Amino acid sequence: MTASLSFEPGAALVAGGSGGIGAGIARLFASAGVPVVLTYHRNEAGAAAIRSEIEGAGGRCEAQRCDLTRAEEVEALVTDVRARYERLGQVVYAAGPSFDFNFIGAIPEQDWHRVLDSDVNGAFHLIQSAVRAFRAQDGGNLVAVTTSAVERVPSGDILSAAPKAAIEMLVRGVAKESGRFGIRANCVGPGWIDAGLGREALQGKLDERQRDKIRNEVIPLRRFGTAEDIGWAVLFLCSRQAAFVSGQSLAVDGGAQV
Ligand SMILES: NC(=O)c1ccc[n+]([C@@H]2O[C@H](COP(=O)([O-])OP(=O)(O)OC[C@H]3O[C@@H](n4cnc5c(N)ncnc54)[C@H](OP(=O)(O)O)[C@@H]3O)[C@@H](O)[C@H]2O)c1
Repeated sequence: MTASLSFEPGAALVAGGSGGIGAGIARLFASAGVPVVLTYHRNEAGAAAIRSEIEGAGGRCEAQRCDLTRAEEVEALVTDVRARYERLGQVVYAAGPSFDFNFIGAIPEQDWHRVLDSDVNGAFHLIQSAVRAFRAQDGGNLVAVTTSAVERVPSGDILSAAPKAAIEMLVRGVAKESGRFGIRANCVGPGWIDAGLGREALQGKLDERQRDKIRNEVIPLRRFGTAEDIGWAVLFLCSRQAAFVSGQSLAVDGGAQV
């Protein structure tokens, strides 16, 4: 027995791999020898750069455009990846829309609809297609990147927490219904991460005093997380070593939700 992570055969599909957190997950899967298919929506150049970086480091990676709000696009992609790689080992939802922090009274109605459509419906399409593909083989692993705010919602963060609460229940439902088919489903909930949307907020929307306050008063471990911190949690949950873990949510937030 060796003390390292190992994976069932097949590709890892990382939806949102052009984003800050998704890219971190894709890099780690590739470095573990798992072939990666990462998806992008608009950022083709970013996705191509991550693919090149992974290939340059000796990993296997391809980048595919996919709009997760379109069920037929998602189904076609999942079916194609499973056919070409013979097996789809892991499916990770690491996508999500950007939005502004707002109190309930100031959330524009169209933002609510846009965020729910992208996040909840996008995750639903991916998860439904993934479960179909897993059932057509001998099972598989699903991880949704949600938010640690599901447990303890900060003021102004409803647009992050509410859709992710729906996704979390969707994932738990899959774990309950589909465990008998060899399907495991879990969530990883990032806290303040210095990548992607978190970096956008830390660098573009907060001043130094506000950043220091979050680091020193909100996060017991007194640092912001990295995409790699999230990636390791995702890889663990997808690994053979987590073979008896399903229906769980793992907050990766430096202790912020305690
Ligand atoms: N970063 C944090 O601090 C943090 C904290 C808590 C939770 N989260 C959650 O973690 C997830 C990833 O966040 P991130 O920080 O990595 O965000 P990000 O850098 O903005 O990446 C978002 C990803 O989602 C993709 N995407 C957006 N809309 C899409 C659509 N309709 N169809 C397909 N793909 C779509 C984007 O594609 P393109 O860019 O190619 O268009 C990109 O790949 C999100 O769900 C976010 O809410 C992040």
